[in-house]
Amino acid sequence: MIIKRNKAELAEILEKERQKGKKIGFVPTMGALHEGHLSLIQASLQNSDITVCSIFVNPTQFNDPKDLERYPKMPEKDAQMLEKAGCHILFLPEVAEIYPEKDTRVFKFGILDEILDGARRPGHFNGVAQVVSILFDIVKPDKAFFGSKDYQQVMVIKELVKQLKLDIEVVACPTLREPDGLAMSSRNMLLDPEERKAASLIPLIMQDAKRLKYEGKSIQEIKDFVNEKLSHNKLYRLDYYEICNASDLSPLNSLNNSVRSISLIAVFVGKIRLIDNLALD
Ligand code: PAJ
Repeated sequence: MIIKRNKAELAEILEKERQKGKKIGFVPTMGALHEGHLSLIQASLQNSDITVCSIFVNPTQFNDPKDLERYPKMPEKDAQMLEKAGCHILFLPEVAEIYPEKDTRVFKFGILDEILDGARRPGHFNGVAQVVSILFDIVKPDKAFFGSKDYQQVMVIKELVKQLKLDIEVVACPTLREPDGLAMSSRNMLLDPEERKAASLIPLIMQDAKRLKYEGKSIQEIKDFVNEKLSHNKLYRLDYYEICNASDLSPLNSLNNSVRSISLIAVFVGKIRLIDNLALD
C-alpha cells in the first residue's frame, strides 16, 4: 500500500492510473478504523480498480472542540488494517495540506441543514461538505463509498455532488454492527465498560419501536416509548429520535405504507454521542 501525505503527489499517481483507464474508488474516513470502514474498502475493491482511503480528522466538522480533542487517533494501526484489507493507497494529510487557508465556503443543503444532526450540530455538515469537496477535488474518484450509519451525511454528500456537478457516483453501503447489535463506530472505543453495556440497548429499542409501527401505533406513541425506555438509565440523554421520510428525511406526522419511513436516533451515553438509524419498512 502506498502512503501519501502530499496532495500533489497523490493527484499525480492517480492521474497516471486514470490515463491507463483505471477506475478510482474512494473511501474518506477520520481513522480509528473498524470493520464498518473496512466494509467500505471491500465495496470499493469490488467496484473499482484502484482504492484510495483517506484518514483526516477534519477540524471544521467538529462543533464541539472537546469532541475533536478526544477523537481517537491511531494512524499506524489504521495503516496496518488498510494494508491487510488490500487498500491500494492511503492519503494521510496534515491540516495545512487540506486547508492551506481558512475555508470560508458556506453550503446550503435546505432541509438537511435544519433537521436532525443539521439542527443539533450547527456547521457540522458544512464542515463535512468542505472537506469532502476538497478530497474529491484531489482524488477525483469515479465512485465514493459512504456508510448508511451516517444516513443524513450520505444525503448531504449526494446533494453536494449534485450542486457541484461532479461526475462521481456516491455509493451508500450498509451499516455494520457489533455482535450485540450496536452500530460500529470509532466513538464506541471511548465508552467505558458500563457505558458500552448501556449502549447495546440502543439498537434493541430501535427494533422494539419498529415492531410498534407494525402494531399500528402512532409516531407520537412510538416516540414516547423510546423516551420512556431511555429514561430508566441515567447514562443516557436522548438528543433526538425522529421518524422521517426515507427518501428526503422530511419529518412525518403519520405512518402509511405509501411512504418509506426511517427512524433516526442520536443519544449521549455518558459524554459520548452515538447515532444510529433503522428503516421501518
Ligand atoms: P468516519 O466517521 O470515520 O466514517 C467514515 C465512513 O465510514 C463514513 O462513510 C461512515 O458512514 C462509514 N461508517 C462508519 N461506521 C460505519 C458502520 N458501522 N458501518 C458502515 N459504515 C460505517 O464520516 C466521516 O468519517 C466523516 O464525516 C468524513 C465523511 C470522512 C468527512 O470528514
